[in-house]
Amino acid sequence: MNHFVSMQQLSEYELLQLVKKADGISKSGMKPLKEQYFGANLFYEPSTRTKMSFIVAQKKLGIEVLDFMSDQSSVKKGESLYDTARTFESIGASFIVIRHPAENVAKQLADQLSIPVINAGDGTGEHPTQSLLDLVTIYQEFQRLSGLKIAIVGDVKHSRVARSNAIALNKLGANVVLCSMDDWKDESLPFPYLSIDEAVETCDVVMLLRIQHERHDQKTLMHTSSYLKEYGLTLEREKKMKDHAIIMHPAPVNRGVEIDSALVECEKSRIFKQMKNGVAARMAVISSLLEQGGKYNENHFNKRN
Ligand code: CP
Repeated sequence: MNHFVSMQQLSEYELLQLVKKADGISKSGMKPLKEQYFGANLFYEPSTRTKMSFIVAQKKLGIEVLDFMSDQSSVKKGESLYDTARTFESIGASFIVIRHPAENVAKQLADQLSIPVINAGDGTGEHPTQSLLDLVTIYQEFQRLSGLKIAIVGDVKHSRVARSNAIALNKLGANVVLCSMDDWKDESLPFPYLSIDEAVETCDVVMLLRIQHERHDQKTLMHTSSYLKEYGLTLEREKKMKDHAIIMHPAPVNRGVEIDSALVECEKSRIFKQMKNGVAARMAVISSLLEQGGKYNENHFNKRN
């Protein structure tokens, strides 16, 4: 595999090796890469932590960062995504990081370009580097992923984080359960739905999702006022979690909606640790793609390990 666009495309072995690599980088750092590389960060949707942690990851690896703001670029003159990406490839970008509101865009670019493409979130499709940093955070907590019971809670239908994590965690042997109000269930994911109360009482990880207001129609917006009480992580529910269980959320957090604001930095919360791990996870992905000259596959891991 020459790109990092979907958790679907990675084997259990590849996933685990990436988790271990990112865990190692988070603990011991990593030397900058020896060759000169240029990273192009094409963000067509707002982002704080994904974009900034990609930039920090690139700078730590000694990569020249080609930043791009679509509203100050020739996108405003009507240039297509393909022509924009081909332009970056032509001027010497070594890889492209793409965030876009349309599903499957990263995969399409990967098919069209000869440089690695990294998916930084494509519509309701996938967000594989978010998933990798989530896997690393869980691994650091429990020293394993297999056998853990993990609840993905909230706006499952519109969440690319839910999709990537459900796929990856299932591949790694975790017991994935979902929890959502009826309108936001995604029946394409083959995992059981539990009530929020059953989920918080029985799971090792309670992974909350941001309500994706920007992907909703008017009808679903009206549910949010009573959401915390009916479907979110309240102070009362947190008290019923297992002693060792942890709380996760990809952020940005709608405080007081998916989670009581007081729980965002509580003892069980790993929300800011997830963000910290985002740098190491992205360093692991970028360096794996570049060090192999684009050849990032099971063979590579077998040879090295
Ligand atoms: N978790 C996440 O993707 O956050 P940003 O939208 O701020 O990048």
